[in-house]
Amino acid sequence: MRSLLFVPGDSERKLAKGETVGADALVLDLEDSVSADRIEIARAMVRDYLLGHRDRSRTRLWVRVNPLSSEKSLPDLAAIVAGAPDGVMLPKVNSAAELALLDNYLTALEVREGVARGSVRVLLVATETARAMFNLGGFGGITARLWGMTWGAEDLPAALGATTNRDESGELEFTYRLARSLCLLAAVAAEVEPIDTVFTDFKDTKGLLREAQAARRAGFTGKIAIHPDQVEPINQSFTPSAEEIEYAQRVVNAFSSGAGTVGLDGKMLDMPHLKQAQRVLRGVNK
Ligand code: COA
Ligand code: MG
Repeated sequence: MRSLLFVPGDSERKLAKGETVGADALVLDLEDSVSADRIEIARAMVRDYLLGHRDRSRTRLWVRVNPLSSEKSLPDLAAIVAGAPDGVMLPKVNSAAELALLDNYLTALEVREGVARGSVRVLLVATETARAMFNLGGFGGITARLWGMTWGAEDLPAALGATTNRDESGELEFTYRLARSLCLLAAVAAEVEPIDTVFTDFKDTKGLLREAQAARRAGFTGKIAIHPDQVEPINQSFTPSAEEIEYAQRVVNAFSSGAGTVGLDGKMLDMPHLKQAQRVLRGVNK
């Protein structure tokens, strides 16, 4: 999944619009974009939306629930599993123990609702608390439900009592760049997808493209969107270009003799280059 578009779970208008914009997934939100007095309405709307959209071949449907530390999370899960969401995004996760707990909750609810056991996958927002930053390496091997990990630069500063996440030049402060890198490493270590965080300035398409392309170069495989206009630039950024595909094919061909290192266009290539080229072609043939 290249693009995952957040849609406030209590907005009829945005839910209707979301399905038309070509996102690989919608993330129907029950957390921060829904006000406390609307949560029950939002749960019912999200559940109905899931039940009314069973064909997920074009756009998968995920749900962001409230953090497990909140009393809202279990009622969120109890309301939505009947709609067989493709996955649940868990914010403000602290530790692997919480992932194991979520796994148990989901299994019980899947059995209750007659939904295939293990079918609801999980995407962790893994850098939103200080504790989580010290537990990032521990999320692998807990459950096959874990599909991906993403990071955030908005909630961690709030947790730290920071007044901003930016330095004087407007760049992300080191703490949040650390969160980005550690999330990338943690996801790869856990053998799941590293997903880049939101770009909040939704009118700045150039800035979005720059950030999305940097994320892809770094190894992220997708990015979260908050506005329909962000979906196409994100999809484009995470789709290999015709030149990249052609080059990857030439690299693979260059290794067809079985040699461990070869020359191509005057440059030495060895195993890491072959692996990278194979990865590009795998993405295309998926
Ligand atoms: N999903 C689906 N549709 C959306 C959308 C979204 N995330 N954001 C905007 N739209 C729709 C609007 O409803 C509008 O459609 P309409 O003309 O049919 O009503 C159209 O796209 C253009 O929207 P625009 O006027 O440019 O934006 P806005 O001022 O209405 O909304 C935000 C701006 C940021 C509030 C909105 O994009 C949003 O809600 N984003 C998601 C926020 C979220 O979920 N945050 C939690 C995670 S960080
Ligand atoms: Mg948040």
